[in-house]
Amino acid sequence: MVRLAPSILSADFSRLGEQVHLIEKAGAQVIHVDVMDGHFVPNISYGATVMKSLCGKTALPFDVHLMIENPDQYIEDFVTDQTEFIVVHQEACPHLHRTIQHIKSLGVKAGVSINPGTSLSTLDFILEEVDLVLVMSVNPGFGGQKFIPSSLAKVEALKQIKDMHGLNYEIEIDGGIGLDNVKEVIDAGVELVVAGSAVFGAPDVEARVKEFLDIFVG
Ligand code: DX5
Ligand code: ZN
Repeated sequence: MVRLAPSILSADFSRLGEQVHLIEKAGAQVIHVDVMDGHFVPNISYGATVMKSLCGKTALPFDVHLMIENPDQYIEDFVTDQTEFIVVHQEACPHLHRTIQHIKSLGVKAGVSINPGTSLSTLDFILEEVDLVLVMSVNPGFGGQKFIPSSLAKVEALKQIKDMHGLNYEIEIDGGIGLDNVKEVIDAGVELVVAGSAVFGAPDVEARVKEFLDIFVG
């Protein structure tokens, strides 16, 4: 089943609880939490305190996307009863295998992400260990950017490797996804779809979530 993970980066933070309630009511399955430190990416977003303010206010699981240097130092902060995934960047983890094991040891699913300019082959020796691979389809740092088409080839290759070797990771895509290209990425093998501005920038957020979900079921 394909799931929609709206990114709250594009939400109205002055009424975050309300906005999350809207997407939940409309049927979105996951909340994508974009954490940026101003070092790994050229922008600062929010930290664990903001995410934790949603605990108990929604039943949706959190998909934590750590776009930060030294993620190991902060992983524990993002572990809650509602945390489904903690995703780190390959480019930020010199000891990626250790970091992935660390996340799993905390009882949370572990994901790895790669930037558009990073080759999939950098993940060759970690694919067996991870629960999720996040393909960045924009350069991370900001919402509302344009989808980079070469990301599709990465998704296709990940799907092929997964099927060929019987691996278990979910494939996620993040950046520049809208109603116009979401079908294409799902056909390529994506199972977790992040959408920020396409959801929270819509005039009717609830209706927009439903439009996405209608495409998912074909
Ligand atoms: C980008 C973030 C994304 C962002 C996506 O650095 O990782 O999750 O919120 O936003 P859109 O869907 O607007 O490209
Ligand atoms: Zn993200």
